[in-house]
Amino acid sequence: MGLFGKWLRKLRARDYTKNDIEQMRTGEVPSGENIPKHVAIIMDGNGRWAKERGLPRIAGHHSGMKAVKRITKAADRIGVEVLTLYAFSTENWKRPKAEVDFLMKLPQEFLSLELGELIENNVQVKMMGNRNLLPDHTIAAVEDAVRQTAHNTGLILNFALNYGSRHEMLEAAKELARQAAAGKINPDEIEEEDFERHLLSGGLPNPDLLIRTSGELRLSNFMLWQLAYSEFWFTEVYWPEFSDQHLYDAVREYQRRARRYGGL
Ligand code: FPP
Repeated sequence: MGLFGKWLRKLRARDYTKNDIEQMRTGEVPSGENIPKHVAIIMDGNGRWAKERGLPRIAGHHSGMKAVKRITKAADRIGVEVLTLYAFSTENWKRPKAEVDFLMKLPQEFLSLELGELIENNVQVKMMGNRNLLPDHTIAAVEDAVRQTAHNTGLILNFALNYGSRHEMLEAAKELARQAAAGKINPDEIEEEDFERHLLSGGLPNPDLLIRTSGELRLSNFMLWQLAYSEFWFTEVYWPEFSDQHLYDAVREYQRRARRYGGL
């Protein structure tokens, strides 16, 4: 089958509407073979977005939640397979208690509003992070969504919640060390894949594209191992304003880049 045939088959399998296909044809939305399979996003700038509008920071987070819905749909529409969103880092506990409490309620609010539609759209919800310290109501909401979407086969919507990459790697190293000490594995034979299996993202492909909003140019302890060969795309736009078109711009730029993985 030629490239066009394969593309058409993929489009049909994903149930695109005529309108979607027309927008892909005209280039309004990105399409083609090299759509990034895994897009990871550091959703930054909620606080500044709110401040510029004279609103409390939590209003920025609430508006950020709406962007989560928008971007999940947009990512799904262009055929992204995994969307990982950095919703709460292990460092975010340092924020004022009222803000942390608000952030911990957002997954519940989001899922109570959106789970039905996520299920309808065949989305699988996953969570990547340390369950310790997360309030029961947060864990319960996320686990319920994970359970109810476990058999879905479409976009994986992976929330990084209470996630920190150094901690994740340290835990993987400890687990391998325990197995070596117990004589179950030979340290000299540990492969990258063995280490990867013990990361919280185990089983997911590494991100192809990392997006960070709000003009900050750093990784902030996010997927340090997994992003080793990812393409990075930064924008000044604050997360609550991040639109479908911004995502499509990032993906188009990704499609223009040649990934060489250290080769020529
Ligand atoms: C960073 O902006 C953002 C966060 C720490 C929280 C991100 C959470 C959301 C976007 C909502 C998540 C929604 C669900 C459904 C889990 P910031 O507060 O650091 O912004 P600032 O740098 O401008 O202060």
